[in-house]
Amino acid sequence: MKVGILGSGDVARALGRGFASRGHDVMLGSREPESEKLRTWKKEVGGRGSTGTSEQAATHGEMILVCVHGTGAEEAVSTAGPDHFQGKVVIDTTNPLDTSRGFPPGLFVGITDSLGERLQRKLPGAKLVKAFNTISSVQMVDPKFPGGAPELMICGNDAGAKARVTEVAKELGWPGTLDLGGIEASRWMEAFVPLWVTVGMKLNTWHHAAKWVHP
Ligand SMILES: NC(=O)c1ccc[n+]([C@@H]2O[C@H](COP(=O)([O-])OP(=O)(O)OC[C@H]3O[C@@H](n4cnc5c(N)ncnc54)[C@H](OP(=O)(O)O)[C@@H]3O)[C@@H](O)[C@H]2O)c1
Repeated sequence: MKVGILGSGDVARALGRGFASRGHDVMLGSREPESEKLRTWKKEVGGRGSTGTSEQAATHGEMILVCVHGTGAEEAVSTAGPDHFQGKVVIDTTNPLDTSRGFPPGLFVGITDSLGERLQRKLPGAKLVKAFNTISSVQMVDPKFPGGAPELMICGNDAGAKARVTEVAKELGWPGTLDLGGIEASRWMEAFVPLWVTVGMKLNTWHHAAKWVHP
């Protein structure tokens, strides 16, 4: 599969490495496609990874991942060109974190709207699935947790797209997904992240994840 990833940060590079390691053809889209960190990333993934502009990455991808800073997410998909997202499965990993008052962060969108819903409104022809936003970039591929990895929380409006993301999650080492419903469930998946940060500060780790347990 051809995968287009918007972003060049830890999440974009980690998921890009993961997809490339499974044999997919990955292009990362950045405002600086020839930066030092992206040159290093290309060496790491060998022939299965390339870099370009966000528009080139969106055009390249049969599946597209949005992995940019929350404050730049809407601008990034506009710059990439909404037409290039038409009919495609789009994985949204972003969080609307507001660090203007320090840590733990707040949210700059919520709780009657979310960044996931904003992106879906910007890309009405795309099948957006919120996923990976509650997981550290370090654990996104081949996750390692005592007792096994949890199911990956996802949400989105298109059942077929969520089924496809579930296949992708399994390919990257997750046991499966926990489907929380339509894209409006992004409100709670995003609002969960300040709690995840608070717990990380308390436990002094950034590799943790939540697992729902029930009788
Ligand atoms: N880090 C984690 O462990 C983690 C875990 C789960 C979810 N997330 C979420 O995933 C997203 C990416 O996180 P990250 O830590 O990898 O990176 P980040 O530091 O949050 O963001 C860096 C990326 O954002 C892009 N960016 C910033 N402003 C932009 C704009 N106006 N237009 C286009 N691109 C813009 C940069 O693109 P250029 O290359 O063009 O500079 C760069 O690729 C965030 O929304 C974050 O909340 C992060």
